[in-house]
Amino acid sequence: MRYSELSELLGFPELEATMDEVEDALVRCLTEGSDLLAVPAGRVARGGGKRLRAVLVLAASRALAPSRTHPEHAVRGAVSIELVHQGSLVHDDLLDGAESRRGTATVNALEGYDRAILVGDYILAKAGTMAASVSRLVAEDVAKSIEALCTGQVLEMADVGNPTRTLEGAIVSVGGKTADLILAACRVGAHCVVEDGEVVDRLSAYGHAFGLAYQLVDDVLDLVSTEELLGKPVGNDIRCGVFTVPVLLARDAIGDAAFADDLRASATDDDVAERTMAAVRSSGAVERTLDLARDYAAEARRSLEKIEHDYPDLARLARLPEAYIEWVTTTLVPEGALAPGVAAEIS
Ligand code: IPE
Ligand code: IPE
Ligand code: MG
Ligand code: MG
Repeated sequence: MRYSELSELLGFPELEATMDEVEDALVRCLTEGSDLLAVPAGRVARGGGKRLRAVLVLAASRALAPSRTHPEHAVRGAVSIELVHQGSLVHDDLLDGAESRRGTATVNALEGYDRAILVGDYILAKAGTMAASVSRLVAEDVAKSIEALCTGQVLEMADVGNPTRTLEGAIVSVGGKTADLILAACRVGAHCVVEDGEVVDRLSAYGHAFGLAYQLVDDVLDLVSTEELLGKPVGNDIRCGVFTVPVLLARDAIGDAAFADDLRASATDDDVAERTMAAVRSSGAVERTLDLARDYAAEARRSLEKIEHDYPDLARLARLPEAYIEWVTTTLVPEGALAPGVAAEIS
């Protein structure tokens, strides 16, 4: 999915032209330093992606102040948030040992692990500079999102290879590593046009709930989609010892010690990893995870209800999480990969 499709799904096709500006600014700011950093960082920037977080910054600020003709602050806010996402993925790929993303080689695969650490840091630093050029509030939103990312990621790391990882613990980790950045995107969009208050709080709650749904869907895709459809490796979570929500739900549904042993062995034995993923798929846990994601998406929609009357364009944001899940299940999940009941429910 490109940002043009995303702004269409959002029902904000007019954001597309502003997203072109975000795209240019993103590439420009990552290609102005030493080639040793600028070449890999520029490749990351040009690599694409859905640009969900940048689109949310623009959509939030636009929905709160529709008459703004020159959203210069929102563009810089969007670039800043997208830079945090890009930098965190460079680090995520080196932690996961992933060799491809968005259909191209990762920095750790091409320039090596040491360089990937520095390129990730470089991109995160650029995010800070860009955020500070908007306002102190936006700089704080961005810094806090990086802090949350580190906390969520380290909690995930602490549970690597742990078959007794709790569902609650997994959700807290997802909250930090993914949901808080989507929350920050909404907050930055709001902070570009309004100060703190109920509107910012409601958009933050929306972003957090959407972010939880977004990561649960990504976790499902790791189990049921293909590298060809996603442009990144699949089946990587279990092989890295990261037991995601669908895996934990399967563990609880299956409830035998042999499954826990298989989870442990999946990191070193590929056949066991394949068998374990097949068991997760046939346990109904994938469908239950999608139901949970839909619950969070509905919670996100409800978060905006109270303020939609004053800002009618927020209705478009409110619909997005549920529309996104439907789009994913119909375009990124191969036919027959979900239990028939669920496939029928979503079609
Ligand atoms: C990938 O994010 C990592 C997650 C938090 C799920 P995206 O799926 O938004 O990645 P791109 O930017 O579209 O490639
Ligand atoms: C999201 O988790 C990573 C970050 C929030 C940095 P994943 O590890 O699931 O992301 P993908 O699947 O590699 O994109
Ligand atoms: Mg990863
Ligand atoms: Mg993933």
